[in-house]
Amino acid sequence: MLCPSMSNPFREDLVSRARPEACSVVIFGATGDLTHRKLIPALYNLAIDGELPTGVKIIGFARREKSDDVYREGLRELNEEVSRNGHDPEIWKDFENSIEYHQSEFQDEDGYKRLAERLEAIDAERGGKGNRLFYVASAPEYFDDILINLKKAGLNESVDGCWSRVIVEKPFGTDLASAQHLNQVVNQTFEEKDTYRIDHYLGKETAQNIMVLRFANAIFEPLWNNRYIEQIQITCSEHLGMEGGRGGYYDNAGALRDMVQNHLLQLLSLVAMEPPTDLSADGVRDEKVKVIRSLRQWDTPELVSENVVRGQYTAGHVHGKSVVGYTEEDRVDPESMTETYVALRCMVDTWRWSGVPFYIRMGKRLPKKATEISVHFKAPPNVLFNASHSEADEGNVLVIRIQPDEGISLRMVSKLPGTSLRLEPVKMDFQYSTSFGKGSPEAYERLLLDAMAGDATLFARRDEVEEAWKFIDHIHNGWKHNNESATPEMAEFVAGSWGPEEADNLLVKDGNTWRRL
Ligand code: BG6
Repeated sequence: MLCPSMSNPFREDLVSRARPEACSVVIFGATGDLTHRKLIPALYNLAIDGELPTGVKIIGFARREKSDDVYREGLRELNEEVSRNGHDPEIWKDFENSIEYHQSEFQDEDGYKRLAERLEAIDAERGGKGNRLFYVASAPEYFDDILINLKKAGLNESVDGCWSRVIVEKPFGTDLASAQHLNQVVNQTFEEKDTYRIDHYLGKETAQNIMVLRFANAIFEPLWNNRYIEQIQITCSEHLGMEGGRGGYYDNAGALRDMVQNHLLQLLSLVAMEPPTDLSADGVRDEKVKVIRSLRQWDTPELVSENVVRGQYTAGHVHGKSVVGYTEEDRVDPESMTETYVALRCMVDTWRWSGVPFYIRMGKRLPKKATEISVHFKAPPNVLFNASHSEADEGNVLVIRIQPDEGISLRMVSKLPGTSLRLEPVKMDFQYSTSFGKGSPEAYERLLLDAMAGDATLFARRDEVEEAWKFIDHIHNGWKHNNESATPEMAEFVAGSWGPEEADNLLVKDGNTWRRL
């Protein structure tokens, strides 16, 4: 039993969380969508909640010519549209005074020298503390130039008791070789402890709660293994397609690289990891990486065909609106062999999970936006109630709703009130919104604050990223081989449906079915 007097690592962590010191946040790719829709609104909402350290300065670094005022105006327009806590013109006025624009090409060394001078002037104004957080959110082809030029300008060094850290946005490489190369460049410029590879799924409140659910409640851990769990499903469904010109990026990425290599394998590792020895960044990441390393490798074309299904949407209807098929989307190759849907059967080869399939599916243009993890427990012995009800045979299901409608539910079987013995499944439901009466911060709020505080727990470590790419590369190699055959396997499904039939068959082989969302 956990009682207040017992040592509880989660409580200690909450109490001792360091409040970040003032710093300058330099965003590369400052005119991009991510900066406008996520990063600036996240910083603004931290300011509203009083969490942004006083004296933070934000410098937007990008190529286009712009005055500070024009830059701020563009940020304000988007903030009004997307800010979690709404937009207060008075607060914004104060907040925008901390934003400046710095024009430079990413390859231009002189631009970084000017940046260094600018940062020194800001430090002097602030009273001398030169903490820097560099956020690399540009197009990925500039990542190397930015990192190398930061080093040449001496901006990578943590000096005089101040720190210099870098956050690197996704995509962190497009395969193992490119990720290794990027890791090399990062590690030649910043120390690993100052490197923050962002995966915004780890900043989601519900993802953070997975460890708490598992390790701060004594009831789940004894059941969390192959003796009691039949299968685990991770579903990420999106109704959007290639709006806003995303097709150009997506057609070179596909569902497997875009979401599985990072977000969904991270969720899988949180569900499957062993309890860490402590909550330090390395304590947690040591356990997560073991899971990814234990994934059985689908390293032949046959294994890929047996365990992975890829699909593309064709024209259909989503939310009552007709939509075009993937190959007719803007900036997508009409002959494209890029998957917009992927379903995988994963096996985690550890003692705990031996024989338990983990199914992952992700798709664009599915009926709705929802991400959830469902843990399907084994059915009880079929001796007492077998004549009463067949649905009871399905056993208990614990559902962790990552988004939207964040919460956790547990499906149980109950007696239907009445004079005869009839069993029905019922649901115990916990919802964040009603239980805590306040909304969760956006993932980027938490992650930006963690990077300022020097806490890398919710960021991916070098080995995690590389192990994940190793797993994904095998699948891509299998597909490449398959593309060269006379009949490449690409399952089609109508936009607005739950994906191709082939994905259902993937589970049928094991006697399972996808959970209906
Ligand atoms: C991004 C992917 O990393 O995550 C997008 O590139 C995807 O394709 C997005 O839509 C999903 O994020 P969220 O937080 O909306 O689930």
